[in-house]
Amino acid sequence: MTQTIRIKAEGDNASLIVSLALTPKMGEESLRTKYGVTKYDLAQGYSIPETLRSLVPNNIPEYVDSGEQYVQRIIRSLFFFKQCSLIGPSGTGKTHIVYLVAQICGLPLWEINCGLQTSAYDLFGRFVGLGKENWVDGQIVSWCRYGGILYLDEANMMKQDVATRLNPLLDTRGHMVLNEKDNEIIPRHPHGYVIISMNPYSAEFAGTKPLNAAFRRRMSVWLNFDYLSVGSRISDREIEIVGQRAKIPLETAGNLVRVAAELRKRYKNGDIPYAPSVGDLVNWAVLVADGVSPLDSAEETIVSVTSDDIEVRAAVRRILQTVLGLSGGVSSPGSP
Ligand SMILES: Nc1ncnc2c1ncn2[C@@H]1O[C@H](COP(=O)(O)OP(=O)(O)OP(=O)(O)O)[C@@H](O)[C@H]1O
Ligand SMILES: [Mg+2]
Repeated sequence: MTQTIRIKAEGDNASLIVSLALTPKMGEESLRTKYGVTKYDLAQGYSIPETLRSLVPNNIPEYVDSGEQYVQRIIRSLFFFKQCSLIGPSGTGKTHIVYLVAQICGLPLWEINCGLQTSAYDLFGRFVGLGKENWVDGQIVSWCRYGGILYLDEANMMKQDVATRLNPLLDTRGHMVLNEKDNEIIPRHPHGYVIISMNPYSAEFAGTKPLNAAFRRRMSVWLNFDYLSVGSRISDREIEIVGQRAKIPLETAGNLVRVAAELRKRYKNGDIPYAPSVGDLVNWAVLVADGVSPLDSAEETIVSVTSDDIEVRAAVRRILQTVLGLSGGVSSPGSP
């Protein structure tokens, strides 16, 4: 097990953690070639402090897209502008790709989930114990001092006091002032990069809110993420991944992907609160591969992950039955 897993334990994605352990290591150099980023060296001239080596992710699974070259676009944005924003519904691989980018670039990753309402003290730092002797840097201060990628997940959920302190830092030559600590001034490290991610702001995405305006102005590049398959758009690449990772026939994988595509359409319409990611689909497929029927295994994975609400679960079951062509389905895939 690696340190990456320890960092991830504070995050929200169990399936990514599992796949970390399963994927064989590919050299960073060949990854750079594979994703077409050899000309953007984000770590040039950076000597990574020994204590931070464990914050560089490794063994991150491949990121699959349909030709959008997201990895290249993120790294290019960091190279030219030092920061980048990722927008897309839940489960479209935003967190995954940030880990992969950090691995490819050989940079420490400082991950902060802004939705968790972590206090400014934890993020910036505080004195521990009695008196003013033992100051402990928070993650944002550490990033500012030592460099790497600061990843602000769910950036639109950030608390105002944290946003206010971060704003000056997002000017690429910015610095921060630690008022608590005798106004120490910390310049933003020359290898300090920022990636923010969030769900799109719309009435359907309960809980989301518009991004703080000062933040918005400081981001140069915005990349939109979407599911590989949605509605009638079915991605052969997604079918392949599900088939390969769970070792099930492509025909079966295709059926699972079609269910997911329909659920994602409903989610984007605001009908259901969550739709399955590729990771959720692989979990489902693993149980199918073990001999559990698609409906029974969906119950433990796809249905449960969507909601606790009885009616929502019933709606998901109906979609499953209809798309899988099983008896008992009452609504058609096209109906709202
Ligand atoms: N394009 C992709 N290629 C490979 N794996 C993917 C891709 N998209 C999603 N996944 C997998 O789907 C799961 C969910 O992805 P991830 O957690 O990165 O989504 P997210 O966009 O960060 O979601 P949220 O907005 O809820 O944080 C993970 O297991 C991830 O590895
Ligand atoms: Mg995420």
